[in-house]
Amino acid sequence: MEQLLEQELAGLGATSLKRERAGVRFEAELATAYRICLWSRLASRILLPISHFAAPDARKLYAGVKAIRWRDHLKPEGTLAIDVTQSGQPSPELRNTHFVALKSKDAICDQFMSTVGVRPSVELAQPDLQIRIHLEKGEATVSIDLSGDSLHRRGYRAAGAQAPLKENLASAILILAGWPALSKPGAGFVDLMCGSGTLPIEAALMSSNTAPGYFREYYGFLGWLGHDAAAWKLLKKQAIEARITDPKKLPRFFAFDRDNRTLSVARENAAEAMVSELIHFERRELKDASQIAPNYGSTGLVGANPPYGERLSEVEELKTDYKLIGDTFKQKAPGWNGFVFTGSAELSKVVGLKPSARHLLYNGSIECRLLTYEMYSGSRTPVTPS
Ligand SMILES: C[S@@+](CC[C@H](N)C(=O)[O-])C[C@H]1O[C@@H](n2cnc3c(N)ncnc32)[C@H](O)[C@@H]1O
Repeated sequence: MEQLLEQELAGLGATSLKRERAGVRFEAELATAYRICLWSRLASRILLPISHFAAPDARKLYAGVKAIRWRDHLKPEGTLAIDVTQSGQPSPELRNTHFVALKSKDAICDQFMSTVGVRPSVELAQPDLQIRIHLEKGEATVSIDLSGDSLHRRGYRAAGAQAPLKENLASAILILAGWPALSKPGAGFVDLMCGSGTLPIEAALMSSNTAPGYFREYYGFLGWLGHDAAAWKLLKKQAIEARITDPKKLPRFFAFDRDNRTLSVARENAAEAMVSELIHFERRELKDASQIAPNYGSTGLVGANPPYGERLSEVEELKTDYKLIGDTFKQKAPGWNGFVFTGSAELSKVVGLKPSARHLLYNGSIECRLLTYEMYSGSRTPVTPS
């Protein structure tokens, strides 16, 4: 996703962009960094590096963390949490991330005790200051996590769905499948197996120009002493004004699933995301899919994130559905674009249509495939809308 993220960040005003493994480095004014926290559909976290130093062992790590002026970032009686990541082979002393976090917390608290006699406390959920320590090649980078909590947590999702896609992964799928260009009044979006509704909800948020962070109440910068409250207030106001709410100015969204319980979670999520009125949810088996084009739009995007089965017997059973997805695309959605997102390389081949592009994306640690399709209208007689 790095390349997509780089393009998105550039569009949001970041400069000096440099793609790195699983991330993109950039420069930005603080207000632009806030805009990225509010508007990035793809990023997980936005980190502001404040110090970089050699940390080959615990003593140097402690000294390096203690050398930072923490009173510029946190009130003495504030709360903090430390999150540690490592790349490559860490030194034996610093292999345990829990130990690294503890040592760093001691350094921060010792500094406060020796200067003001009061120390901050640890609060893992929504602290005033979320600190990230990254260790690589004997060096440490200390950053303030401006996002605070992973940005894929948009704040609209209810508990209870099985295997939902992360919201930022769903957005990446939609961008790669061409939804931003296809999205216009008169067009349609159809998810044949919507589960908890992540794809249609993210598609509707994109089309309605709703900031993905619109529903979040917590960000890592809100309790940080460097916070610019006026800049944040303005960005929130602009995000409210930017929303397109008139359904006539938007595509139509259809989301199907065979499972009623999952559908009720999807409906709840859509309500939280304020897109209930845009998405038509319906219990429907894949085999009963009705004619998509032109009934649901003269052009559009139809897709599925089908189950991909972990046992061999399941994989065999699922082949029928994958074949059916390909047939549905071809026979019922002429002139539309399509996509299948799956964790099974074997099943992806069963769809039976020639993909226009293939992308590898990770769903957590699972290597997944996104196949996109263009269905030609050919000489099929258009079906009269019912
Ligand atoms: C991997 S989940 C989709 C997850 C979804 N993208 C999300 O983010 O929540 C697959 C969904 O396909 C549905 N499903 C499986 N077989 C189906 C069929 N034959 N017809 C309709 N829905 C089906 C399941 O009920 C399940 O909700």
